[in-house]
Amino acid sequence: MASHKTLNLLFFFFFFFFFFSPLCNSTDTLTPTQTITDGLPLISTGENFAFGFFSPIGSKNYYVGIWYYKVQEPTYVWVANRENPLGNSSGAVLTIINGNLVLIDGRDRSPLWSTNVSTVANYSTATLKDSGNLVLKDGNERVLWESFDQPTDSFLPGMKLGLDRRTGLNRFLTSWKAPSDPGKGEFTYRLDLRGKPQFFVMNGSDPIYRTGPWNGERLSGAMNVNTRFSFVFVDNEDEIYLTYVPYDSSILSRLVLDESGLLRRQVRIDNTGRWNWATLVPKDECDNYARCGPYGVCDPTGLPESECTCLPGFEPSSDRDWHVGDWSRGCVRRKPLDCGNGDGFLSLARVKLPDTSRSRVEPGLSLKACADECLKNCSCIAYASANISGEGNGCVMWGEYLIDLKVYSDGGQDFYTRVHASELDETSYKQSRGFLLTKKIVISVSTIVAVVAFISCGYYCWRRERGRKMNTRHRTMCNEKDFEEGNKGSALSWFHSDVIVASTNNFSEANMLGKGGFGSVYKGKLLNGEEIAVKRLSKNSGQGGEEFKTEVTLIAKLQHKNLVRLLGCCIEGEEKMLIYEYMENRSLDCFIFGTTLPINLIHFCCCSNQRRSAMLDWSKRFSIIMGIARGVRYLHEDSRLKIIHRDLKASNILLDDEMNPKISDFGLARVSDGNQTQEITNRVVGTYGYMSPEYAMKGLFSIKSDVFSFGIILLEIISGKKNNYYSDCYSMTLIEHTWNIWKEDKVMELIDSSIIDSCCQIEVARCIQVGLLCVQESAKDRPNMSSVVFMLGNETQIPSPKQPAFCLYRGESCHHLHSFINEAKYSSKNELTITEVEAR
Ligand SMILES: *[C@@H]1O[C@H](CO)[C@@H](O)[C@H](O)[C@H]1NC(C)=O
Ligand SMILES: *[C@@H]1O[C@H](CO)[C@@H](O)[C@H](O)[C@H]1NC(C)=O
Ligand SMILES: *[C@@H]1O[C@H](CO)[C@@H](O)[C@H](O)[C@H]1NC(C)=O
Ligand SMILES: *[C@@H]1O[C@H](CO)[C@@H](O)[C@H](O)[C@H]1NC(C)=O
Ligand SMILES: *[C@@H]1O[C@H](CO)[C@@H](O)[C@H](O)[C@H]1NC(C)=O
Ligand SMILES: *[C@@H]1O[C@H](CO)[C@@H](O)[C@H](O)[C@H]1NC(C)=O
Repeated sequence: MASHKTLNLLFFFFFFFFFFSPLCNSTDTLTPTQTITDGLPLISTGENFAFGFFSPIGSKNYYVGIWYYKVQEPTYVWVANRENPLGNSSGAVLTIINGNLVLIDGRDRSPLWSTNVSTVANYSTATLKDSGNLVLKDGNERVLWESFDQPTDSFLPGMKLGLDRRTGLNRFLTSWKAPSDPGKGEFTYRLDLRGKPQFFVMNGSDPIYRTGPWNGERLSGAMNVNTRFSFVFVDNEDEIYLTYVPYDSSILSRLVLDESGLLRRQVRIDNTGRWNWATLVPKDECDNYARCGPYGVCDPTGLPESECTCLPGFEPSSDRDWHVGDWSRGCVRRKPLDCGNGDGFLSLARVKLPDTSRSRVEPGLSLKACADECLKNCSCIAYASANISGEGNGCVMWGEYLIDLKVYSDGGQDFYTRVHASELDETSYKQSRGFLLTKKIVISVSTIVAVVAFISCGYYCWRRERGRKMNTRHRTMCNEKDFEEGNKGSALSWFHSDVIVASTNNFSEANMLGKGGFGSVYKGKLLNGEEIAVKRLSKNSGQGGEEFKTEVTLIAKLQHKNLVRLLGCCIEGEEKMLIYEYMENRSLDCFIFGTTLPINLIHFCCCSNQRRSAMLDWSKRFSIIMGIARGVRYLHEDSRLKIIHRDLKASNILLDDEMNPKISDFGLARVSDGNQTQEITNRVVGTYGYMSPEYAMKGLFSIKSDVFSFGIILLEIISGKKNNYYSDCYSMTLIEHTWNIWKEDKVMELIDSSIIDSCCQIEVARCIQVGLLCVQESAKDRPNMSSVVFMLGNETQIPSPKQPAFCLYRGESCHHLHSFINEAKYSSKNELTITEVEAR
């Protein structure tokens, strides 16, 4: 046997060195007497694609694969040896041995990769087609193997994604590990055959996005009917797959599952000479699988705090979680079904059907027949048309667990949920989706403030009286239940001042967290171990009774994961205190500015550790930026109150133990009545460096002044530098600096040196551009917060910013501003918080 093997090997080398010759001129076919070496690829006849050796940018390894031949920037659509890279391409060859295409390592002559077809053919050839398909055929033109059957991360026109039922071959996409590493990443995009078959993007074995089942026209959760491509879904005895073709074959395109799990479409229209990218999923937050929990419905156009609603007939399973934006536990049925006794259906229009893996398809049923069928079966809880192209094309029925529903503003299909007879009254459904109706209702500001203040005071007095009678001096908090009777819907508690004094060690210096114009903030610990932050308002602070009430009433109503939570308050004679949840990581400025803060502020900060800023890598910073943006969006676009914060700054952004940002300090906030877009105040309050020009100069404020402040915070987070105010009027501000380097197209110079390693250039550049849009001179040019959130989170076209407002600090305005600043009363030397300025 051994000698036989040696003989084989000898034969191989002989064969290899004497008969094989590299390809000489470009050809699309490899025959057994030829080899492909680095630099001499196969090229398809129309020169669309090339097949050969490549090394991705940033990698030392070599791979064999297919790329667009005519496209300048290397774009690889298929990789053969993704798990077995070559360390060195010199000497390595691709050739056909025993009918198989084999990659041979140049160093030890070992096979690194092979098409591995078991049929031994005496003669076969490999041809690269113009579609990007590499096809291995035997002498009788029988296809032995094709690259389209082994997709990597790209779905090319003409490829099939799905199952060949005859051979069991399942084709799916697997992401690259990293842009420089084609190895198998953790994400896959595949067809799930359970119930009505649907496509998922999976992270390992967890579904993360669902493009959904084919509804007769398209995938229910993605790929809108598109004028450029025609998608086809085939489901028969032999095969079940998705494929597509472009209407215009000169358009190069592919769908890619990228390294971060996004499913994207890349299109190149020849004459523009560059790729256009579009993300197919996720399009918005609602595409995150099961975002709203079981029986929840996600509406991406809904207001941010109410993206999720319950299906008709259902209510949140935990009101409290639901209202703070934790929707994971979903909804429960309001009234149990009463099978056969008048149950009926409520419909929801324009939906992406819920997960169909537990559904059942009845072919050939009309929608009407489907409703009857469902009603007859006590365990059927919902139905929808299986094919929206025509009546009588079958229906889908669900027996349990409706999850991952989304409503579109346009498109989608009708979905019918079974409910108890008493729910069939249309109004009950509308109430459950109440926010949709309240969107337009504008409540007069003064009325709210007056009413709430009245109720709060009345309640407080009542509590106090009662407390005295019951002699409950040791009680730490009011019984929450009692409280809810008095102020339904809010979880605010009233604390006794003794409790606060004890918890903060009699407001000891050691417990002090910070100090500002309003008073001081102390850390406290309640008897039950809960840590709190107590904001003790100085008696003669800028925040008088009026502002105190504003803050209490406002915050009590606001609940969002990016806003700091007010636990309660305490009024004792002159003493006014607010009790917040304690934030482990204090405030953002400590992290981003590191040691550049003035010495006397460091005392209050976490930053005795000088390397704090390095803890915030780019992805963390980006998620903080997104969090702040969402928090501000919530303030501005809340359905009941439209709130302008007026003092957004890095030190007002607190960070919890997971570094989630929480906006704090609403003492200066104003409730805007929805009609007026801009208001005027005779008391300019805010912090210099974050104030928009129109506000600082003229006292005009609007949500756009907050957008301005947000832009500053964003640029500060990226640069790690403060937007300083320079009294000499000649030094550059951060905005000016950013604007200059943006004009010169050198934005990467802005980045904090401690994040350069971790940062992603494209994302940073996008952020900077959004930041510049926010700080534009004219308020009406600045985007609103919804657009900001959208631009940050999606790769859309972002408009070019106009010149920002740095001129405010220069030139003729400068002197004006200078005198203005001089007249301002600084409440704290370093923070330059202007607490009160008379209008001029
Ligand atoms: C690859 O191998 C060739 C020949 O063995 C050698 O000259 C070259 O330096 C190697 N390249 C790398 C990057 O190792
Ligand atoms: C080739 O296929 C056989 C079975 O068909 C499998 O055991 C083997 O691991 C495969 N080899 C490679 C290099 O893929
Ligand atoms: C390959 O084998 C087939 C039959 O198995 C034969 O007809 C054909 O001539 C052979 N081709 C070569 C090149 O040997
Ligand atoms: C994918 O799963 C891993 C491990 O379960 C997790 O750490 C990672 O955050 C997930 N990524 C996404 C995008 O869901
Ligand atoms: C959907 O209905 C249309 C129109 O009747 C029909 O042509 C098509 O084959 C149906 N598709 C499926 C997947 O049933
Ligand atoms: C009733 O519906 C359930 C869930 O869809 C299904 O499993 C069951 O087969 C149905 N029963 C009948 C009699 O159709």
